[in-house]
Amino acid sequence: MEKSYSIAIDGPSASGKSTVAKIIANKLNFIYVDTGAMYRAFTYAVLKAGLDPKDEKASESLIGKIEISFNEKNHITLDGVDISKEVRSNEVADNVSYIASYKNIRLFLVDSQRKIASNKNVVMDGRDIGTYVLSNADLKIYQIASAEERANRRYKENIEKGIKSSYEDCLDNVNKRDYIDSHRSFCPLHPADDSIEINTTHMTIDEVVNEILKIAKERGIY
Ligand code: CDP
Repeated sequence: MEKSYSIAIDGPSASGKSTVAKIIANKLNFIYVDTGAMYRAFTYAVLKAGLDPKDEKASESLIGKIEISFNEKNHITLDGVDISKEVRSNEVADNVSYIASYKNIRLFLVDSQRKIASNKNVVMDGRDIGTYVLSNADLKIYQIASAEERANRRYKENIEKGIKSSYEDCLDNVNKRDYIDSHRSFCPLHPADDSIEINTTHMTIDEVVNEILKIAKERGIY
């Protein structure tokens, strides 16, 4: 079988991972996997079922009962229904880091992530891709940016998508998720030892994309 390649892009909230990962996947004709959307979908399912996302046992009860996947447009689906708009809501953003801290829910979603990636060329973005999900990835990028810049990016993105929010709310959410994501006991957010850090605070999307493509080329990924 021909070798397949994987690129892992990790980093804190709103550091621009998904924008960059999508462009790279497109250029290289790789599959793009947005693992954050899967944690958001689980959170949406918990809220929709009227359960409390802060209650680990109650949230876990949905494991195996719901199906989270991607459709032909690569949009996130819950039991076959496209929920790509719903997962971007403020309510989901406010609760997703609780859900993502529960070990059994992570194991359930990581299993799907590995299945999606197996024997395929993929660009996968998240928090634990280089450290855990694809620990043998051919290239691991750790993308960072200042909290203020990330809040600014998220605020602009929300405005474009018609989601009501303020810069202060975005900054609060970024800081809160940074804290929970990096302090959880199972698979916390941290750079893999063999990752390459890119600080995107003062970089354009094109500059980040080109930087990653340059390294991928040097490594013979394409
Ligand atoms: O797009 P944004 O950076 O806001 O976040 P996301 O990538 O959509 O991820 C949403 C949340 O899911 C994160 O804040 C983490 O709590 C969680 N997550 C995770 O724990 N592990 C992943 N591999 C991806 C996301």
